Amino acid sequence: MNKPLKVGIVGMGGIGNNHANCYKNDDLAELVAVCDWVKEKADAAAERLGVPAYYTLKDMVNAHPELDIVDVTTSGYENGSWHYVPAMEALDMGKNVLVEKPISNRIEEAREMVDFAASKNLYLGCNLNHYFSEPSERARDIMNKDGIGQQIYCINKVGFDGSSAGYGGKGGPRWNMPYSHAKAFLTHPFSVMRYFCGNVTHIQAFMDKPGVRASAEDLMLSVQSIHMRFENGCIGYLLSQRGDAMFGLGGWWSFELAGTKGTFVIENCVEKLTYYKQGQAPDVYDTGVKDFGATFPKRIHAYLEDLTNGVPREHLRSSGRDALATMEYIFAAIESYENGGALVCPNALPPVHGALGYV
Ligand SMILES: NC(=O)c1ccc[n+]([C@@H]2O[C@H](COP(=O)([O-])OP(=O)(O)OC[C@H]3O[C@@H](n4cnc5c(N)ncnc54)[C@H](O)[C@@H]3O)[C@@H](O)[C@H]2O)c1
Repeated sequence: MNKPLKVGIVGMGGIGNNHANCYKNDDLAELVAVCDWVKEKADAAAERLGVPAYYTLKDMVNAHPELDIVDVTTSGYENGSWHYVPAMEALDMGKNVLVEKPISNRIEEAREMVDFAASKNLYLGCNLNHYFSEPSERARDIMNKDGIGQQIYCINKVGFDGSSAGYGGKGGPRWNMPYSHAKAFLTHPFSVMRYFCGNVTHIQAFMDKPGVRASAEDLMLSVQSIHMRFENGCIGYLLSQRGDAMFGLGGWWSFELAGTKGTFVIENCVEKLTYYKQGQAPDVYDTGVKDFGATFPKRIHAYLEDLTNGVPREHLRSSGRDALATMEYIFAAIESYENGGALVCPNALPPVHGALGYV
């Protein structure tokens, strides 16, 4: 049996503690240390998990040179502005990094992180967990068996259910920014769409917010309507909103991919997959899973598996480069919106071995 990979986590909020539980329950990992610059949070997590606490990443890594992985579960403005510094420090200290999403809220930083990891030949992964589910696995299986054929369209509706009655007022400074929902959240649906349909070549976007937010001087553009074309010719539509309305068909997370040989629909991310084929009754697979939280251990296990197996870096699942792709699409959508819905071609991705072709 392989030796478990040694992990240190930086950022012990809700998500850092969630990741810690995943490592604790996974035979491929050994949780070695935790870190938070808020002492009480680091200490509380350390006590709960039975590992030492640190208050800076450098102190943690210096005290544990044996660490294989630093997991960055910090947050920040638009839920991503505190990822770059610890991720770059950990990479600089020779550690593989799993970073929460969005890889960064700043596109230049996301590009630099991906390039730096490539230059160091380290595994930079991102927690794009939304397609680490049984329905997604089965859907991929259908595709691999040519059950979809030529892709025609995909539709993704995802976000948060809500209503004006449930509106809680504008968020704090981290959230009260025009593109906070777009940057913090759309990385997930774009990752799912790209996972199934490949790279996006063209994007057009509209964004808005309901009157209840406007009256509260809430800066967040909480509604996104994004139309796109994929490299393979498929067309796609992404609708996201942050608790302004209830989602109807398909619930809070639905994805439909239609092709010339069949169509599949995933409902509520982890719950249900339906496959439609002409002349046959729909094939419904209900997983019995209701908790979206099931995606975390699955995604983290995949990262541990990839490192344990020493997969070529370009085969790392949900890599930093995959995360960068989603941010390029988000920034293209923002550019489109700012230009009245103009057609925008997202920035090309760097070669898989980095901008300078490191080996
Ligand atoms: N993948 C998912 O499904 C999913 C779901 C929710 C949140 N997230 C992401 O998880 C991340 C964490 O979310 P959260 O709600 O736990 O955030 P949080 O703000 O509650 O916790 C982040 C912690 O990081 C600490 N921190 C920040 N920078 C630090 C640094 N440089 N060194 C040490 N400690 C530092 C903060 O003190 C805080 O305790 C966010 O990026 C968010 O986008 C992902």
